[in-house]
Amino acid sequence: MKSMIYFDSAATTQKPKVVIDEITRFYAEEYGTVHRAVYDSCLKATEKYENARKLIKSFLHADEVIFTKGTTDAINLVASSFIQEGDEVLISEMEHHSNIVPWQLKRAKLIVIPIDDNGEIILSELKKKITKNTKLVSIAHIANSTGTQNPIEEIIEIAHAHGAKVLIDGAQSAPHIPVNLQKLDCDFFAFSGHKIYGPTGIGVLCAKKELLDQMPPYQGGGDMVDKVTFEKTTFQSSPLKFEAGTPHIAGVIGLGAAIKYIQEIGMETIAAKEQELLHYATERLTPLVNILGTAKKKGAIITFVIPGIHPLDIGSFLNLKGIAVRTGHLCAQPTMARFGAVAAVRISFSFTNTFTEIDTFIAALREAILLLK
Ligand SMILES: Cc1ncc(COP(=O)(O)O)c(C=O)c1O
Repeated sequence: MKSMIYFDSAATTQKPKVVIDEITRFYAEEYGTVHRAVYDSCLKATEKYENARKLIKSFLHADEVIFTKGTTDAINLVASSFIQEGDEVLISEMEHHSNIVPWQLKRAKLIVIPIDDNGEIILSELKKKITKNTKLVSIAHIANSTGTQNPIEEIIEIAHAHGAKVLIDGAQSAPHIPVNLQKLDCDFFAFSGHKIYGPTGIGVLCAKKELLDQMPPYQGGGDMVDKVTFEKTTFQSSPLKFEAGTPHIAGVIGLGAAIKYIQEIGMETIAAKEQELLHYATERLTPLVNILGTAKKKGAIITFVIPGIHPLDIGSFLNLKGIAVRTGHLCAQPTMARFGAVAAVRISFSFTNTFTEIDTFIAALREAILLLK
C-alpha cells in the first residue's frame, strides 16, 4: 500500500516486510506440518510454531495461548465451551458484533451495560446489573467504534468480587498498548493476528490454564486427541485440546514475526506515538465534524459523522484523494444506534502514520465538505 494514506488500521494493519519474508521463507524453504512426524521440516515447523506460542505468552504475560482463526473465533470458542444455554453474560453497549452474536447463538441471557454520551461505560450500571448468577463479563478493552479504552482493571475486580469470569476483547488493544494479563488477572483475552501486523486467518485466545482444563473441546479431529477408539476418545490437555486439525502454521509463524517486530519497537513507544496522532487529529477534526466517542481515555480511533453528508460519499471522495478510511456501521450497529447514527466514518492509526498525513486528510475532508454539503 505505497500510494495510499492508510487510516484503517483498526480494521486490519498493513504488513511489515519482516512478516512477509518470514511467511515466504516458511512456504518456499522450510515448509512442513507440525506435531506429526520426525523429518526435518516437520521438526523445524513445530519448533517455530511452538516458539511463536512462547513469544505470545511472554508478550502478554499469558498463562496459556490457544491459536484460533481470530478474535471472532476465540470468542466463539468461549461461547461454545464455557457458556451453557441460559447462562448470564454481561456485555457493554459498545461491543463489536463478534462480542454479541456468539452469546446469542448459544442462547445465553445477554445483559447490556449502557454507555454515556461520551462513549464511556457506566460503571454504576455494571455494579447494579452484575449478580452472583453472572457467569461471564465480556468487554472490549478498546472499542473499535468509539475508541473508548475501558477501565478493565476495575471491571475485572467487580466481576471477580461477584464470582464471574471475565473475557477481554483485546482486538484493538493488543496491537496498540502494553498489556499484562497476569497483572490484570483476566480469565480470557482474545485478539486477531491481522490487526497486529500479522496474517489474516490467525488469532489467539489467552486463558487461565485451570479454566481451560475444565472446559470441553469445541471441535474434534486430529492433533487434539490422546487415544481414539470407536467407543471412546480421550483428549490432549490444553492448548492442543482446542486446536483440532492441521493448524494455520504459516499464520502462526507470521504472527510470531509480527509480535517480534512490535516488541522490538516497544509497546510504550507505539502507544505514545499513537496518542500524539490521536490528539493532533482530534484537535483538527473537532470543529469540522461530530465525533462519536469522546471518552477521556481512547485508543487511536476517531469515528465521526457530518450532518447532511453520507459517510459513504465522504469515504469515496477520500479514496479518490488516496486516503483509506472505514465507512459504514463498523460492525457495531447497537453502538451506532446509541449515538443515533446508522453509519459513520472512522479513521484509525498505526504508529507508522504521520502528522503530515493527518494534514493531508484534513485538507481533503474540508474539500469534501465544501463539495458535498
Ligand atoms: C473490538 C473488536 N472485536 C472483535 C473484532 C473481530 O475481529 P476479527 O474479525 O479479526 O475476528 C474486531 C474487528 O474489527 C474488533 O475491532
